Amino acid sequence: MHVDIISIFPSMFDSVLNSSILKRAVEKGKLEVKIHNLRDFAEDKHNTTDDAPYGGGAGMVMKVEPIAKCLRNVEKKKKGFKILLTPAGKKFDQALAKKLAKKKNLIFVCGHYEGFDERVKDYIDEEISIGDYVLTGGEIPALLIVDAVMRLLPGVLGNEESAKNESFMDGLLDYPHYTRPADYKGKKVPEVLLSGNHEKIAKWRSEEALKLTKEKRPDLLAKANKLSKGVYICP
Ligand code: ADE
Repeated sequence: MHVDIISIFPSMFDSVLNSSILKRAVEKGKLEVKIHNLRDFAEDKHNTTDDAPYGGGAGMVMKVEPIAKCLRNVEKKKKGFKILLTPAGKKFDQALAKKLAKKKNLIFVCGHYEGFDERVKDYIDEEISIGDYVLTGGEIPALLIVDAVMRLLPGVLGNEESAKNESFMDGLLDYPHYTRPADYKGKKVPEVLLSGNHEKIAKWRSEEALKLTKEKRPDLLAKANKLSKGVYICP
């Protein structure tokens, strides 16, 4: 997958893209990321990318011309699915991550200040929010989405990790995990996990995932209609 990110703070991406699984995805050739400095597309000598709002009021608004010009430049090389990061967008979730993982090229436009000139939206395919809170800019949301999408691409995670992923793909929280020691200060690992009986273990994990979701995120249960291994839930 090829990802273009348009931002006025390109250095914000360095450490995240150069660490852990994202770094590995780049090294394996599964992911290619290009950061574009929006200031390079400003049309005045001060490289201005924002301006005061018409009608008055506090804060600055991201200008339309630099963004349109930058998108034109990016798409001269590679057309892509254009995403605007904004708290007013569609709420990001695993289903949207899955949808984006099917695209070949993604283009993220990160904003700052009070928001974008409304006409920026004419150049965008989808507005996305990562949650009902306001951040200082779209860079962290863009990285969050790249992370969630990348781990769904074939070959990015090892086999073990991708299998683990399946349970949340069913719309439920993950079941509890344990590793050695089997007894930590009297707190024991559930017996079934030591039994070696894979059928029983799968059943226990299904039940625990369901119990945990009911307890912590009952809203997810309304959406989930299927538990892994063919056990169906009636919402
Ligand atoms: N920019 C500022 N806040 C945001 C949010 N919650 N989601 C996406 N982009 C944002």
